[in-house]
This record gives sequence, C-alpha cells and structure tokens, in this order.
Amino acid sequence: MEIRVIAPAEARRSAAVACFQFEGDRAPSGPWRTVAPAIGEAAARAAKEQGFEGKLRGFLLAVPRAGMPERVLVIGLGKAKALGSEALRRAAADLPARCRSLGIRSLAVIPPFGAGVEAAAAVQALVEGLGLAAYTFTKYKQADESAKKGLRETAFVADGGARAAAAAGAARGRLLVRGVCMARDLVNEPASEKPPRVIAALARSLAGRGVTVKVLDEKACARLGMGAFLGVARGSAEPPRLIRLEYRPAKARGTVCVIGKCITFDSGGLDLKPTDAMRWMKDDMSGAAAVLGLFSILRELRPSVRVVGLIAATENMPGGRAYKPGDILRAMNGKTIEIDNTDAEGRLTLADMLVYASREKPDALLDMATLTGACVIALGNNVTGLFTDDDALAKEIGGCAARTGEKVWRLPLEKEYRDLNKSDIADIKNAGGRWGGAITAGLFLQEFVDPKIPWAHLDIAGPAFAEKARVYTPVGGTGVMVRMLAELLQGRSEGRGGAPAKAAKRR
Ligand code: BES
Ligand code: MN
Ligand code: ZN
Repeated sequence: MEIRVIAPAEARRSAAVACFQFEGDRAPSGPWRTVAPAIGEAAARAAKEQGFEGKLRGFLLAVPRAGMPERVLVIGLGKAKALGSEALRRAAADLPARCRSLGIRSLAVIPPFGAGVEAAAAVQALVEGLGLAAYTFTKYKQADESAKKGLRETAFVADGGARAAAAAGAARGRLLVRGVCMARDLVNEPASEKPPRVIAALARSLAGRGVTVKVLDEKACARLGMGAFLGVARGSAEPPRLIRLEYRPAKARGTVCVIGKCITFDSGGLDLKPTDAMRWMKDDMSGAAAVLGLFSILRELRPSVRVVGLIAATENMPGGRAYKPGDILRAMNGKTIEIDNTDAEGRLTLADMLVYASREKPDALLDMATLTGACVIALGNNVTGLFTDDDALAKEIGGCAARTGEKVWRLPLEKEYRDLNKSDIADIKNAGGRWGGAITAGLFLQEFVDPKIPWAHLDIAGPAFAEKARVYTPVGGTGVMVRMLAELLQGRSEGRGGAPAKAAKRR
C-alpha cells in the first residue's frame, strides 16, 4: 500500500475521503472544510439517519449530494479525553476492510488535527493501524484475489504548518509497519522453510550501512563453550547457528543488547509435545523475529544507540543424537545444568546467549522469548510477561509498551522459588515444576546474567501468535515487541531512560 501526504487542494479531486469524529461532536475533526465544505453537511445528515454517535471504531458512510467527494467515510474516535495513539491505531484499523468491501482503491484521509492531537504522532498512529491491519500472508496462496481488491493508495491530508510533521509521522509509521510485518512473515513461514541456516542467511542480508552481521557455526560455538545451546541442537538434522547483529551509529548513547529466542521448531525433543501443543511451534522463534524485524529497519530508524542483536538458532527435535532427560550440559559460564525436561529448551539456548551478551557489557540487556506455557496461563494471549529486578528498566519498558499499545505486565523474580530449580547432581536443573513456571524460567535465566547489567526478560509466549484476529493484528505471527524496541531506542537516543550519564553529556 502506498502512503503519501497531500495538500487539501489535491484531496479535492479524491472520490473517497475518510475523516474522524469524536463522540458527542456534531461534525468531524480536522481540516475537512478546506477539502470540501459538503463533507460536514453530508456527515451530519447521515449521522442523524444512521444513529452514528462517534463511538470508537463506529462507522458512517455519507454521500454528499453533488460534486466531490463521492463518498465520505466517518470513523468514530470515542471520547476526546481518551484519545491517544492507541485509539487512533484502532480507529484506522477498520479502513482496509471497509475500503475492500466498498471497492475503494484510493483514499484521502483527513486526520483529526487540532483538539490536542499532534500531527506527527497522529499520522504515525494512523499509518500503523492501517498498515498493520492490512497485513496478509499470501506467499503460499496460488491466486491472491484479496490483493487485487484492496486499498492501493492512502493519502493523508495536511496543510501548511502540519505538512512536514505529517510527512515525518507517516515515514516513521511506514517504517515500523515494515519492521513488524517482516517479523510476522518470519513467524508465519513454515518451520521447514526457515531452519537455522536460512535464518542466518536472512540476517546476513540485513548487513550494510552501519549494520554488521556475524554468523557462528557449531564448531565456533563449541570453542566458546556453549554446551547448553549445542545440547539442544543435537537432536536436529539441521545445524545450529549463532547470529550476532550489530548496529553502530556515529555517536552512540550507550549500548542496548537484545536477545531473541530462536527455536525454529519446538517438537519438545524426546519429551515430545502432544499434538495440540506442537501445532503452532513454528512460532517458537518469535523473539528472534522481533530482533530481525528491528534490525531490518534500524538503519533507517537511525537511533543514536549502539544495538547488539543475538540469536541462537536451532530446532528442538528428538533425533537419534538428541539430548536426553537426565543429561548434564555445561553452559558457557561453566555452570552445569541437569536436563529435567527436554521441552524446556529455550532457557538453555538463552543461557549461553546471556553469558555471551554479558561479556559485551551493554547498558541494558533484554531478552524476548516464547518461553513458557505458564506465562500464557497467567496473562493470556495478549499480555507479555516482564521480569526484571531493575525498577528503572521496568518503568522504561512499561512506558514504551504503553505508548506502542503492546501490553506488558510485570511478574516477580521471586527469590524463594530459586530452590525449585535446584538439582541434586548439577548446579541447576532446567525445569522447576508446574507452579510458577514462568517465574522459575525467569529465575533460571537470571543465573546466567552478569548481576551488574540491567536485564529484563520478556515472555512473549502468548502475544507472539494470534489465534484469533485482534483489531489491527490478523491471525498468525504478530511481530510483537518490534515497536516497543524501536520506541525504547528512540527514547534512549533522546536521552530519556537508561542512557549512561557520561555518554549523554558528551554530545
Ligand atoms: N516454546 C515453549 C513454550 C510455549 C508454550 C510457547 C505455548 C508458546 C505457546 C517452551 O519451549 C516450552 O515447551 N516450555 C515448557 C516448559 C516446561 C517443560 C518446564 C512449557 O511451558 O510447558
Ligand atoms: Mn519447549
Ligand atoms: Zn520452546
């Protein structure tokens, strides 16, 4: 879908126009008068006829009596007090489907500027809602009929002073949509089409203009002592790969390291998953998809923060050489791990990544992982579990997620539960029993992080994949956390949250 910013004069030639109206208002908001005064009259008449109240995502189709535009789509924004980026994303989300059913290929959108709505942020949110909702995964469909009918061009109307801000917001929105959809594509791709070597090749293709990519094979990983990661990989015929991406801007305000769990398929290993539990395990690389989605847009996003991305890619399979319950693996920091359950594989791959990442001495270390079914039981499908002992980092992540509309809820790294991970014959075991399973997984990870480094673990087992469509999230991979990460980097670039004081002063 093409997205542009146009002047009101150009919008006057548009056959279909969309605008927005607050609950309780008698007319749409924004500069619709400069496009066509008839919009107000048509909208008021249709609102009376159709009982339109302006409730969030409410919809009205108005037809002016003569001249252009031929059709006006009015979308409810809800109460003015409650307006924020998320309301705008949700309001815009229905436009692709509405336009498809109305046969509208080209649409002029009049954003609700004024009324405390800042142009750049508003257009960004509208573009996000529109773009994320319009996503489809059609690679494996022979004939893609839907693409032929969908919205081809969306033009946001902005005059004079708002023009540059609207264009900047549209560009940022478009970029974020691209990053999220890249992550969604990766998650939706069948597991057999995305083994570790393919993920590595894709990562390599992101190199250039400030981004460097290094791939380590199993021999290199063995030399580094990554026994936990390599233990998981043994059961698969596909060789594992460690992928390190780095973005280095000219002037960096510190380093953020992001780790993404990358089990390209989780069969459970010898502790094989039952049928229903295995069905969607192609999504067990969603953490890595978020990292790759982020890196795919980093060089255009250009935050003033150095970013290191780490991905330990492998399948978890029950092959003849597979690691077994009762085995003991040695992680990169020397700790020995008794295998209680081969299906608790994610924390093993992450253990080595956390040790590796700690040695890079980042200012913040985040890992994203579809780690536990227990987290889905606790928080359901829409909410990410956040684990950290660093209150400032928790606040920073919570604030970013609130702005991007990605829901995050903090759970405790309860120290009293550390005993649950104790092993009789090794330093630790890889499963802590049924109760508090998301917490014991988090506590396991903590054992491999340098305690001096601010670290947060995000369990995205629920939100990574949408079994049912949500407002701007179609069924399938969601690309969750790409926008939160971009927001966090943006904040640190501007000196908000977490940036080391020294580096901030140097600028
Ligand atoms: N990848 C799964 C977690 C998962 C479950 C992700 C549901 C998405 C939806 C993970 O590797 C796993 O199997 N975890 C086990 C851990 C247990 C054996 C301690 C689980 O949650 O059952
Ligand atoms: Mn598993
Ligand atoms: Zn897994």
